[in-house]
Parts: sequence; C-alpha cells; structure tokens
Amino acid sequence: MKKLRDRVAVITGAASGIGRALALELATKGAHLALCDLDEEGLERTRERAAGRGVRVTTARIDVANREAVHGWAEQVEQEHGAVHLVINNAGVGLAASLRRVRYEDFEWLMGINFWGVVHGTRAFLPILERQDEGHIVNISSIFGIIAAPLNGTYNAAKFAVRGYSEALRMELQLDGLSIGVTCVHPGGIKTNIARTARVQEGDLAMGQDDMAQFFEAAARTTSAGCARQIIKGVRRNAPRVLVGFDARVMDAMQRLAPTAYQRIVRRFARDHWPVR
Ligand SMILES: NC(=O)c1ccc[n+]([C@@H]2O[C@H](COP(=O)([O-])OP(=O)(O)OC[C@H]3O[C@@H](n4cnc5c(N)ncnc54)[C@H](O)[C@@H]3O)[C@@H](O)[C@H]2O)c1
Repeated sequence: MKKLRDRVAVITGAASGIGRALALELATKGAHLALCDLDEEGLERTRERAAGRGVRVTTARIDVANREAVHGWAEQVEQEHGAVHLVINNAGVGLAASLRRVRYEDFEWLMGINFWGVVHGTRAFLPILERQDEGHIVNISSIFGIIAAPLNGTYNAAKFAVRGYSEALRMELQLDGLSIGVTCVHPGGIKTNIARTARVQEGDLAMGQDDMAQFFEAAARTTSAGCARQIIKGVRRNAPRVLVGFDARVMDAMQRLAPTAYQRIVRRFARDHWPVR
C-alpha cells in the first residue's frame, strides 16, 4: 500500500508503545484512524495527539480477546469511517512463566490476546478490506515468533502461531487474486510498557516485576517511534516480513544458521544473564 493519505487505518492496542507510535506516524502521513484498547486514559492521550495532526480519529474500549466485541467494533468503524484500508493487529501482553508451572488461566489470557486477538481483528475487518480496491493487514508477532526462549514459552507459542497464520493468510489471499497484502512483524526489544504490565509467575523469576521491567528496558534498544517507521516502510513495499532492530536481525540470522542448535546458545545466555530462578 503506497498511499496513506486519506486512507483509514485500524490499530489495536493503541494506548501505549508501538500501537501509539503507529497511530502518530500514520496521522502524520495523513491517514484517518480507528483505535482501540482496554486502557481508556492512554487511548484518549493517543487520540488527542493524533487528532492534533489534522486527521479523523475514533476510539473504542475493546478487548481484542472478545470475538463479538471485535466484530461489533468492525461494523462500527465501517459506519463511522465509510471504509478501512489498513488493519494493524498490535495489542499484546507479556507473561514470564515456566511451561511446567504456568497457570492455565494465565496461558489462556495470553493466547486470547496475542493469538486470538490477531485472528479476531483479521476476520472482523477482512470482509471490509475485500470491498476496497486495496488493503493491507499487519500482524505483530515478535522475534520470539522466530526463536524460542526459556520463561517465554507461552509468548513463543502465541507469536509462532501469529507467524504461521499470517504467512498462510498472505498466500491464500494471493491465490484468491485479492490485492490485500499481509505483513508479519518481528520486533526485537522495543522500549515500551510491555514488561511493566506483564504477568510474572511466582517462583519462576529470581527478581520482582520492577527489576524485570528495568532489566527489559535496559536491554531494549529500539524506540517505539523507530519501530513504527520500520513497520510503515514494510507496508509501503508490501513486505511479507519485517524484522525490527539489530537484535532481531542477529537472532533471525542465528536461527537460520543453526535452526535448532541456536537453543544451546540461548539456554547458556539465559542461564548466565537472565533472572531465571
Ligand atoms: N516491546 C517489545 O519489545 C516487543 C517486542 C516484540 C513484539 N512486541 C509486540 O508488540 C505489540 C505491542 O506491544 P508494546 O511493546 O507496544 O506494549 P505496550 O504494553 O506498550 O502496549 C500494548 C497495548 O496493548 C493493550 N492491550 C493489552 N491487552 C489488550 C486487550 N485485551 N485488548 C485491547 N488492547 C489490549 C495495552 O493496554 C497496551 O496499550 C505486542 O503484540 C507485543 O507482543 C513487543
């Protein structure tokens, strides 16, 4: 999708981090916005800042894990904006937990948002995109959708699933002769609130939530604004995959060179440097 001016972009999880940065960057480029999140205060701050750039912005408090709510929102967005051209399934959460001890409740919470949220957003808006002459779907996976890591197993399960879902979807849409692109995004560490709001399984980490968040923030190198710019570049050239950050490119290369042996390196790194109990 080359042209963004006067297009309508939908972004989930737009109250913070990458979602907010995408909203601001797209508004600067002249795209109108339909934004959702559970955090109404954060969403309102994004709305004010984006609307200040002269585009039409609507917001809704929607839980992406709730299928009916997302489908209802899609109808509402089509009524309010008259069209949808770009859908960015971005909302996501973190969970630090071992697969031996993780509570089913927490695992289902994460899958509901990080995997099913992507499916709901795709299915709800796809019929609208099909009615436009051009459309694009962006699904935010992670570099942890390419390599796995200890204490990230539930997140890995969701993000690997997002990658498989997005790659198959891209092929199916092409086979059906539809001009709807699909980009799967794999960011490395991005400075956002994700570690602050992550759930932590008691007994699995050798440090508390605050220390974990600081640990994450020190390791994350890329800003959310930089990440948003990379994603939009990928949309413009209809890239199937966007890797964001030097760390993501290194980890991707490691996985290609040593598709399973990379686990030895990650395991050793986790043992020596991570706050694993
Ligand atoms: N920050 C990173 O290092 C990083 C790396 C790779 C991938 N990602 C992915 O990027 C995406 C955005 O995360 P971020 O880093 O900007 O985090 P963030 O916490 O700053 O923003 C995530 C947003 O999603 C919202 N959200 C959470 N649950 C929701 C729900 N059920 N319904 C609607 N909205 C909900 C939150 O309220 C928040 O505003 C996520 O999918 C995340 O997994 C982040």
